[in-house]
Amino acid sequence: MTLQSKWDHIYSQKTAEPTASLVLTENKHLLPSQGSALDLACGQGGNARLLAGAGLDVLAWDLSPVAIKQLRDFTALNALSIDAQVHDVLEFPPKANSLDVLVVSFFLDRSLCPKLIDAVKPGGLMFYQTYCQEKVNEQGPKNPEFLLADNELLALFSSMKVRVYREESLLGNQQKGWRNQALLVTEKGLT
Ligand SMILES: C[S@@+](CC[C@H](N)C(=O)[O-])C[C@H]1O[C@@H](n2cnc3c(N)ncnc32)[C@H](O)[C@@H]1O
Repeated sequence: MTLQSKWDHIYSQKTAEPTASLVLTENKHLLPSQGSALDLACGQGGNARLLAGAGLDVLAWDLSPVAIKQLRDFTALNALSIDAQVHDVLEFPPKANSLDVLVVSFFLDRSLCPKLIDAVKPGGLMFYQTYCQEKVNEQGPKNPEFLLADNELLALFSSMKVRVYREESLLGNQQKGWRNQALLVTEKGLT
């Protein structure tokens, strides 16, 4: 089974409406009122929907034709400005200085991170959220390749300005808070 067919199968079975990731819903007040945005490895495009609703011109890229068709159908029905494309983001990363806003949720390929920093325009924002190695339960992937080490998201994007960061690890009352994931909003400096 290829990666694409694995995700096609998952999306063909999924019935729940896609939702935007917490890093975006909690921090959407930071978004500019206009500009270009990319929901990278978008799946069914929960983030893309929020970005388009906020008035941005949105690109949404994913490997899965099934997910992209579902997002296109939703976009047509709701007259949203989302350009959804089947697109391998590792083979064809976003172009340098092309985006005012970049959102990545639940996708991690460390080799891509320098390209992501390049892709954000000076003054632009990146919203990133994915799973950590230090989890309070079994939620999320098991393969360590897809799990962030302690504070790793900060290290991967250390050349950008941190505006929001959350990673609660195993501290305190593990029944409370937003566990298992790290959330980062960064701004690219003007120089
Ligand atoms: C865990 S899902 C996350 C989807 C979405 N970002 C979300 O938060 O619901 C990971 C997604 O990455 C996509 N993906 C994996 N490798 C990719 C690649 N090289 N290029 C584009 N998309 C890829 C998969 O098709 C899948 O939709």
